Amino acid sequence: MFANPLSPSWLVPPDDDAVLPGHVWPANAERTASGAIAIGGVALPQLAAEFGTPLYVIDERDARNRASRTLAAFTAAAAAHGSTAVVYYAGKAFLCTEVVRWMVAEGLNIDVASGGELAVALAAGVEPARLGLHGNNKSLAEIDRAVGVGVGAIVIDSMIEIERVAAAAERHGRVQPVRLRINSGVHAHTHEYLATAREDQKFGIALADAPDAVAVIRAHAGLRFLGLHSHIGSQIFAVEGFLEAAHRLLALHAELRAGGDVPELNLGGGFGIAYVDSDQAPAIEQVADALLAAVASVCGELGIPVPRIAVEPGRTIVGPAGITLYEVGTTKDVIVTLEGVGDADAGNSDGGNIDAGAANDDDDRPSGTAVRRYVSVDGGMSDNARAALYGADYSVALASRASSVEPVLVRVAGKHCESGDIVVRDAYLPGDVQPGDLVAVPATGAYCFSLASNYNYLARPAVVAVRDGAARVIVRGETESDLLSRDVFANSADQTPLP
Ligand SMILES: Cc1ncc(COP(=O)(O)O)c(C=O)c1O
Repeated sequence: MFANPLSPSWLVPPDDDAVLPGHVWPANAERTASGAIAIGGVALPQLAAEFGTPLYVIDERDARNRASRTLAAFTAAAAAHGSTAVVYYAGKAFLCTEVVRWMVAEGLNIDVASGGELAVALAAGVEPARLGLHGNNKSLAEIDRAVGVGVGAIVIDSMIEIERVAAAAERHGRVQPVRLRINSGVHAHTHEYLATAREDQKFGIALADAPDAVAVIRAHAGLRFLGLHSHIGSQIFAVEGFLEAAHRLLALHAELRAGGDVPELNLGGGFGIAYVDSDQAPAIEQVADALLAAVASVCGELGIPVPRIAVEPGRTIVGPAGITLYEVGTTKDVIVTLEGVGDADAGNSDGGNIDAGAANDDDDRPSGTAVRRYVSVDGGMSDNARAALYGADYSVALASRASSVEPVLVRVAGKHCESGDIVVRDAYLPGDVQPGDLVAVPATGAYCFSLASNYNYLARPAVVAVRDGAARVIVRGETESDLLSRDVFANSADQTPLP
């Protein structure tokens, strides 16, 4: 079939709607004999019936396997250059106590970015020495708690913070290991990276100011300097940005060795995943090999040993392992004039919703128009803010059945009072998609649950972990009582009358 002219150039109509591209879907996703999608051996219609929709579903084996693969990849790559590696799971991607336990069981440490995330990690029973704390504006209480419980590392983000962490270490009679976050001037986007003298952003200390900051850290008996840290961005496919950052940091790292031990270099997270079929993300082994080869080569030039390498991926570990399941509530065809539409000159006219520029022979739609089908689901920007926040692309599949009906271009919209409330901007679904169908959006394991809100007082969905044919709720869904629980007067008989 031809593409709908409203469709972006990267989106190709599927030859077979039933196929679930392996690089986008969880490792244990498949179509059952009935045509429904199953994940971890559990059919999605069964999950919807038991737990309702919207529903976050996470393939436990896939998430854990990605964690152990990442550790193995960086450990092997570091060993090839005579060094070691430590992998922190970036909890901001998706944190709950069960996921923390999976990560720790697979040998990863945990990176937290607030007192709340620290509380979740501690509630999971993680040994505090395996935790790292980030943040450009950690409160005094957050620093005090982190130092008090004995977190393994605090990533210092400003000169002011050095004194705050040192004071907490003194109060608790501890020597607190710290890293120093550097604003390397390298920022990477998915397909490009930018390298400047200094990036205009809130995180870290400029390269030029770092020697003074490290001298101040070293002057405090209660602080132990571990090394430099940099995080250059998110959803990065090309390794060049990491290589440039590593290059810049290692020059400084070598200089700092003159004043004392610098055992580690932390290159952050940000490795990209495939959200749609056309995305080609490198395997984590490729990323690890390229990074370590570059680090080793620069270290060779500088005449220094390869330090222990730390990384902090979140998205690559949980992102592809999760899907969100929705029920379709309404569908609506919207006629769009093609004037000014990017791919309008694709000029095809084979009926259905793909008429462009030619007379329409099967309805009374004006020529020069095309149809976009809006498929509205029972969630939206409250369970997945990424499309609205960043214009992120996703794909979608019919989850409750298979269909042989020709695909149509759809936009999956949420149920919020915002026109920007889009879950999947452009995708193809079978033309008979209808109310009551279940649809699943893959690659939603990272930054969906963690960015969820109660906008329009929608209850946040449950998270269900699936594995070997069994499903377990690992975070329960919110109820109406949860929604009203913080409203002081909602349940009070003693309501103060308005003046
Ligand atoms: C400092 C730091 N480390 C690690 C990460 C994890 O990034 P990702 O989930 O893209 O791997 C982030 C994400 O924003 C971050 O800010």
